[in-house]
Amino acid sequence: MSHTCRIELDGQSHDFPVVEGTENELAIDISALRDRTGYITLDDGYGNTGSCKSSITYIDGDQGILRYRGIPIEQLAESSSFVETAWLVIWGRLPTPEEHDRFSTRLTRNQMIHESLRNHFEGFPPNAHPMAILSAMINAMSCYEPGMMEIEDETTLEQAAARLISKVRTIAAASYKMSVGQPLMYPRADYKYAQNFLHMMFSIPYKDYEPTPEVARALNLFLILHADHEQNCSTSTVRMVASSGANMYASCAAGVCALWGPLHGGANVAVIEMLEFIRQSGMNVAEYVSRVKAKDSKLRLMGFGHRVYKNFDPRAKILKEASDKMLAGMKVNDPLLDIARELEEVALRDPYFVERKLYPNVDFYSGIILRAMGIPLNMFTVMFAMGRVPGWIANWKEIHDDPKSRIYRPRQMYMGNTIQDYVPRDLR
Ligand code: ACO
Repeated sequence: MSHTCRIELDGQSHDFPVVEGTENELAIDISALRDRTGYITLDDGYGNTGSCKSSITYIDGDQGILRYRGIPIEQLAESSSFVETAWLVIWGRLPTPEEHDRFSTRLTRNQMIHESLRNHFEGFPPNAHPMAILSAMINAMSCYEPGMMEIEDETTLEQAAARLISKVRTIAAASYKMSVGQPLMYPRADYKYAQNFLHMMFSIPYKDYEPTPEVARALNLFLILHADHEQNCSTSTVRMVASSGANMYASCAAGVCALWGPLHGGANVAVIEMLEFIRQSGMNVAEYVSRVKAKDSKLRLMGFGHRVYKNFDPRAKILKEASDKMLAGMKVNDPLLDIARELEEVALRDPYFVERKLYPNVDFYSGIILRAMGIPLNMFTVMFAMGRVPGWIANWKEIHDDPKSRIYRPRQMYMGNTIQDYVPRDLR
């Protein structure tokens, strides 16, 4: 069914087309509004603006649906790996066995960083935030990859994507090693993606770290579940930068900077900080929950609720199962994890949370999983970035491949001074 939207302005009516998405979502196409009426739309924070047409990820927050390229996240979590999911997200279909092997080999061949890049690490102070290192190093890496700056064909694109996905992992682990003053560990060709990251993080020259299959699987799941989430702050940033014609590395480095903000990538950090606060304060969980519920309380249960998923967060369901399995096998003795379990139980029973549909979200379980793996708090957002790189590349590719793509240039409502005369310095 075709719809039209009629807008009445200053006594005149104007018709605008309604666009229907493949999942029957409807949008009013107002791209001709300003030309035809002189008006623009105002949508602070873009909460009601579709900034692009995209065929990468579909989300239905009311029904708890998340699909990459049409495939439900539950099926990918059950059967896929991060590497295969990355290919799917970027190229729009599952790879053939040959494509998968080729991509996997490219990831292995490109996992080392240029030896000269190691010197760049020396330039950061020991307590530098790993997100600062990650974004700076992605840009620095582009200086060593001049052939990847102009991507004209699919082979170069696959090479550039493989290099970025593979090296981000090496840089992430290296930034941690630098921060704790340990020697950087070289990646191993016989390890798979997640296992190799854990090796570079936790092995030391005289002792190899061998993750259990449950730990490697949980990390794989974490990465799959973070691979894309449509037009969030960092992905929109990547598209914005890409729209200027900037290369894949520069665009993804900008994505890292956007993700660094506590309102975006920092929620799982906030979960652990809250658990730590409860432990240190000596409060019991019930007391903390009643403080959260108190009228006019500014406190929130971190890791509960979601702006988009109003019934449940499909990623949280998957990670909860993985975290239960992983913790059962690890026999960790961590008071914060005990508090987390208690909090989850109390909140899932308490009418305050049930009525408001405040379920544990992906950050609640990812915080628990990362902590149990031994990932330090300041690396949590880096882990998120590692997972999100395929989504950023896919969004960069959509802009790059679109012959009609235009530079992103929103407008604004100017609310400042009207015309003023310049006042010479001695008369002010
Ligand atoms: N703890 C306690 N109460 C909450 C929480 C929470 N985590 N979240 C919402 N509420 C309450 C609000 O106080 C409000 O109550 P009221 O109706 O009595 O005033 C009601 O639930 C609705 O809250 P809103 O702020 O309107 O919900 P919104 O959808 O805007 O917020 C958000 C979503 C920001 C995620 C919120 O639930 C929150 O702050 N959660 C904690 C932080 C967090 O975990 N963020 C990560 C989100 S996932 C991600 O970004 C990948």
